[in-house]
Amino acid sequence: MVVDKEKIQSYIDKHDGKKDSLIAILQDIQNEHNYLPQEALRYVAKVLKIPLSDVVGVATFYRAFSLTPRGKHTCTVCLGTACHVRGGPKILDEFERRLKVRPGETTKDNTFTLETVACLGCCAIGPVVVVDKDYHAHTSVRQVGPILGKYKK
Ligand code: FES
Repeated sequence: MVVDKEKIQSYIDKHDGKKDSLIAILQDIQNEHNYLPQEALRYVAKVLKIPLSDVVGVATFYRAFSLTPRGKHTCTVCLGTACHVRGGPKILDEFERRLKVRPGETTKDNTFTLETVACLGCCAIGPVVVVDKDYHAHTSVRQVGPILGKYKK
């Protein structure tokens, strides 16, 4: 992917080119591209005079960052114990079937990234599915289609 270096430079300038603003700069890039393109990381490392390995280390440490392209929407299916016993795996199967991706993958049209999580801390409303920041409580297999439909528009 070709990245707009002027745009990346504008993010660096916005944070006064400070090394300790690395996370904020990476957040701006992630918001722009939905992931952190390798070329962008190289550019940031060069301008901030930080070893590329350190920049990649930060980018891989935080869950909010991704080094691979992500979909416009992220569907997270909880597979923690409480959600598991209430049908979480069947809900995940339905997401996989409809989106034709496995957890960690993104649909070909870059609309959805599918993920799983071990517990979201709201077990009483399980099985839980989160799309972006929207929590869907007491989800059933039949609701997967309508949930996806809301975000396809
Ligand atoms: S197990 Fe799903 S929210 Fe806790």
